[in-house]
Amino acid sequence: MKHIKIENIAVIGAGLMGHGIAQEFASAGYPVQLHDITEEQLNSALIQIENNLQMLAENEIISNDNIPQTLDHIHTTTDLKSASENADFVIEAVSENLPLKQQIFEELDNICPQHTILASNTTALMPSQIGVNTNRKENILNTHYFNPPYLIPLVEIIRSSDTSDETVSTTFDLFTAIGKTPAIIEKEALGFVGPRLQAALIREAFSIVEQGIASAETVDLVVRNSFGRRLSVAGPFEVFELAGWDLVVAAFQELYKDLNSSSDINPLLQEMVSTGKLGVKSGEGFYEWTEEKQTTLRNRMSQALIKAMQSDGESE
Ligand SMILES: NC(=O)c1ccc[n+]([C@@H]2O[C@H](COP(=O)([O-])OP(=O)(O)OC[C@H]3O[C@@H](n4cnc5c(N)ncnc54)[C@H](O)[C@@H]3O)[C@@H](O)[C@H]2O)c1
Repeated sequence: MKHIKIENIAVIGAGLMGHGIAQEFASAGYPVQLHDITEEQLNSALIQIENNLQMLAENEIISNDNIPQTLDHIHTTTDLKSASENADFVIEAVSENLPLKQQIFEELDNICPQHTILASNTTALMPSQIGVNTNRKENILNTHYFNPPYLIPLVEIIRSSDTSDETVSTTFDLFTAIGKTPAIIEKEALGFVGPRLQAALIREAFSIVEQGIASAETVDLVVRNSFGRRLSVAGPFEVFELAGWDLVVAAFQELYKDLNSSSDINPLLQEMVSTGKLGVKSGEGFYEWTEEKQTTLRNRMSQALIKAMQSDGESE
């Protein structure tokens, strides 16, 4: 298969995801142009990248020498044209807003060389929707990371029916080369694989709390200490093949009828949003979020993800 040569990367949007995506490519030695609308956001992204790299070095995931080298590879700009005019591969990570993403893809289509691959990090939208106003539909796909991008190995690669095999295989090889675990999703669908499964889980979790079956704290306790542990080492099909599909039919036949299958947002979730109980960002959701509690949770998650990375490294 012919490949597009990828030398220069551009990342559009330097928020929670964009800064981590830029960091990964820079850490692997690629020159990266990082674009956002304000200098403040770009400066804050650089500070976050340096903090992330220091944390990775403290945990011996990268060497100390890698920190200045990585930072040297990242160039920031508030000008979309200078960010993307020499890019071979562009990842867009702006806010989850379809008209905004469509507009940025249209602008990128006008700015970038014809061979450039345009990828979106959207959580749920389809590449055919995002690239609708472009003249390079064969060079458009989604590359969906999970947060934090520098600690979670997987990237879902979602193609539309117009995406060429060359674009898919170039993207797959690029992510493999920088140490990610790419998964090709052959048929585009809203939410691909990861977000679809997570949406199903959180819909039922809300339904359990709304019906008074268990509190949010109990749901978290159950998941963390039971099937959540298994899922980090074996996928759902592997887990249930150990049990046998006949047992699955026997156990779930009646249960399925009782599960939530509503296509509406759960009223409890709607109420939480309308009363400003947004979670960490408003200081309250099901839990009260003091600064200390937020830090404790973030540290607990990153330490566990680092351990998983270290054990991946040992088993290679
Ligand atoms: N947060 C997650 O866990 C997660 C996981 C996977 C995918 N995503 C997806 O990644 C994308 C970014 O999410 P995020 O969590 O990083 O959001 P964020 O709000 O942290 O960052 C978005 C950034 O885009 C910038 N931006 C907005 N308009 C812009 C424009 N016109 N040009 C350039 N930059 C612009 C904002 O200033 C901001 O810095 C979304 O599509 C989201 O659905 C998020």
